Amino acid sequence: MIVEMKQVVKRYNELVALDHFDLEIQKGDVYGLLGPNGSGKSTAIHSMLALLKFEKGEVNLFGEPMKPNRYDLKARVGFVPQEVSVADELTVGENVDYFCGLYIKDKNERKRLVQEAIDFVGLEKFRKFRPQKLSGGLKRRLNIACGIAHKPELIFFDEPTVAVDPQSRNNILEGIKRLNEEGATIIYTTHYMEEVEQLCNTITIMDKGRALITGSNEELKKSVGIGDKVRIQDMSLSAEEQELLRGNRLVQQYDYKEGTLDVMLDKDAKVLHFLNLLEDHDIGYGEMFIESGSLNDVFLEITGRELRDHV
Ligand SMILES: Nc1ncnc2c1ncn2[C@@H]1O[C@H](COP(=O)(O)OP(=O)(O)O)[C@@H](O)[C@H]1O
Ligand SMILES: [Mg+2]
Repeated sequence: MIVEMKQVVKRYNELVALDHFDLEIQKGDVYGLLGPNGSGKSTAIHSMLALLKFEKGEVNLFGEPMKPNRYDLKARVGFVPQEVSVADELTVGENVDYFCGLYIKDKNERKRLVQEAIDFVGLEKFRKFRPQKLSGGLKRRLNIACGIAHKPELIFFDEPTVAVDPQSRNNILEGIKRLNEEGATIIYTTHYMEEVEQLCNTITIMDKGRALITGSNEELKKSVGIGDKVRIQDMSLSAEEQELLRGNRLVQQYDYKEGTLDVMLDKDAKVLHFLNLLEDHDIGYGEMFIESGSLNDVFLEITGRELRDHV
């Protein structure tokens, strides 16, 4: 196990930011922490990195207890914080060199690594620029270069795509995939469910400092019974047909109004089964829209609130 958090409790006065929080991350994972703003994602990351003190529980990195003075463990870790933290008086190149230099003392090796990191995030053209001259997206990319230049085995990304343009966003997500393919274990926090659905092999959904549920995207949907959604417009159903569809075992949720049929299928049902059902009963249908259940549905099912509200 690369990261292990056991029953961690972190309080800010009255507020419980982490409430007996458990986490296990395996080598090679792209592990997603998904939760609304204020759910405790950054607090969890700062606890894993021993950047803050917590009241109870333990954190192990690479199988060893993580403590503020474990520089040997820190050297194996990269951290890309939520707030861009680079030095304004240094250029792009100097910033990356500075952060890399915290771990890599050999000058020639560092030169090579800094160049690699700058190329990796596509900032070569901006090497001599100071951070104020960069757009939000490019600043994020600089922040990432600073966090990864020393080739860490384990990399923490805390909401790296918030407020960036689509091009930088794609660059960041693709870059993270590549880092993982090259062997790094990744921890990724976000409140965007689409990103963890795309990127992460294991996901923990958080709320109010607690880990609500953990699994792959598919497992999470299955475990709370979220099935595919089908919408058919311009449909005219007789009372009898409505009754038949509403009561069918393939159909978990049913809604029919003003000629639009919305159903959520049973978690194990295939859309094809539903089409067969319509055809078997000679129910005509026109244009159909199919949507997989989302992690928002999972969150809604567990908490009764929308993940999406918290943009
Ligand atoms: N330094 C702090 N002092 C007081 N409260 C804090 C501090 N940092 C975070 N919090 C509170 O702890 C909770 C979790 O915050 P955080 O870990 O930043 O959530 P997230 O990263 O998921 O948005 C929030 O309610 C936040 O307001
Ligand atoms: Mg945060």
